[in-house]
Amino acid sequence: MVLDSYKPIFRQQGHDAHMAILKIARMGHPVLLRNCDPVTDPGAPEIRRLVADMMETMEDAPGVGLAAPQVYQPLRLFVFRVPGGRETDDPADVAAENTVMINPTVELIGEERVLGWEGCLSIPDLRAAVPRATRIRYRGVDCDGNVTEREVTGFHARVVQHEYDHLDGILYTMRMTDFRYFGFTSELDRAGGKG
Ligand code: NI
Repeated sequence: MVLDSYKPIFRQQGHDAHMAILKIARMGHPVLLRNCDPVTDPGAPEIRRLVADMMETMEDAPGVGLAAPQVYQPLRLFVFRVPGGRETDDPADVAAENTVMINPTVELIGEERVLGWEGCLSIPDLRAAVPRATRIRYRGVDCDGNVTEREVTGFHARVVQHEYDHLDGILYTMRMTDFRYFGFTSELDRAGGKG
């Protein structure tokens, strides 16, 4: 997922030679429609490498989330981050550092849904308003088996729902309910119609 108003404050000079910027699959490639497979060994060297490369690719884009199928790996894992500055008074509306979710689960809490703008690194230059649950609980592990389990709301909840959908082959376009709120980022910015 992309957040176009977000600019990295600090950009690492001289990337680690072992990391790589990965090619991102764009909408239309069948890997984005796959129901992804669980990761059998989160600590395996190839999974650690994939996670490191996905973090690097997400930061380079720049994006706030990237799911494994977007880099042609149909596995149930994604990386994300929630930049600070958007939080509300709700204690569940929190920022997040770079986080990896391997074999995650997401539970929607309550019936409330809210429209919010989303972009996707697999759908370049476009944005849409997409309905999402306002509050979720999610859980996943990292490569060392550490569990991250949080109940969140706000933009954080939106990012996680967007990335989790990728693991089930769902793009935000499949969640849209009003195609009037779908357009090119540059036009939306010009029209001031985008929050
Ligand atoms: Ni996406």
